[in-house]
Amino acid sequence: MKIDGQAAIVTGGASGLGGATVDLLAKAGAKVAIFDLNAELGEAKAKAVGGSFIKVNVTDESEVEAAIAEAEGLHGKARILVNCAGIGPPKKVIDRDGNAIPLKDFTSVVNVNLFGSFNVLSKFAAALHTADPLGEERGVVINTASVAAFDGQIGQAAYAASKGGIVGMTLPIARELARYGIRVMTIAPGLFLTPLMASLPQEAQDSLGRQVPFPPRLGDPTEFAHMVGAIVENIMLNGETIRLDGAIRMAPK
Ligand SMILES: NC(=O)c1ccc[n+]([C@@H]2O[C@H](COP(=O)([O-])OP(=O)(O)OC[C@H]3O[C@@H](n4cnc5c(N)ncnc54)[C@H](O)[C@@H]3O)[C@@H](O)[C@H]2O)c1
Repeated sequence: MKIDGQAAIVTGGASGLGGATVDLLAKAGAKVAIFDLNAELGEAKAKAVGGSFIKVNVTDESEVEAAIAEAEGLHGKARILVNCAGIGPPKKVIDRDGNAIPLKDFTSVVNVNLFGSFNVLSKFAAALHTADPLGEERGVVINTASVAAFDGQIGQAAYAASKGGIVGMTLPIARELARYGIRVMTIAPGLFLTPLMASLPQEAQDSLGRQVPFPPRLGDPTEFAHMVGAIVENIMLNGETIRLDGAIRMAPK
């Protein structure tokens, strides 16, 4: 699908990988709606790219439904959805006192990363599946997993489970939505220099970067956005998860 002239939704588009995706899509001529909780950053990004910001919690069904309708009113029917909203506070299964961690510490991460991605994806697809096709296809969904889906570290039980869930749902949803010409893809990033990583001391950033076989550095968010653009433009990409990681395989800790 050509990006130019399409309406797009980017969750988590106020910051990091989502922010770089918003920049790329807007530069390529898309009208972008940012769905994020962070109004300050989201408004600023939307203003910078001539898009729109809608404050949305991706886990909330009615908020997401209303936001998709609002975005359609502003930009027309969205053909591109990029799910980047995510959280990842690490937590071990057993705490220092030998007790199991509260279940909510696990469910809260799965709720945003996995259930939130499904929530936006399903409502986006429902709004799109009866629209006129653009040539061969109607639209494309790109989810963001993580290499933690495959080599999660100690403390990443909830995060890895949430990202593994995203990888797992990619093919069955791509198969289901095939009849509507809606593709579903997932990117599993390695280590990228987003605000979280940028807040680490330079030494720690360099040390993490050196763990990447090649190139031996943290990924730049524009490189993630570049992959989003390639997926949107290449109709043969469907039902697959692409690792974008410089060949890193994470150690246990
Ligand atoms: N940065 C990396 O190295 C890396 C690696 C692998 C995977 N990822 C994944 O990429 C995605 C983006 O990560 P990032 O590093 O850009 O993070 P980030 O914190 O810079 O951006 C995430 C954005 O999601 C928003 N958000 C969080 N919860 C939300 C909710 N419930 N509803 C709406 N918006 C919400 C935040 O406000 C924020 O703007 C995440 O899913 C993350 O797990 C990042």
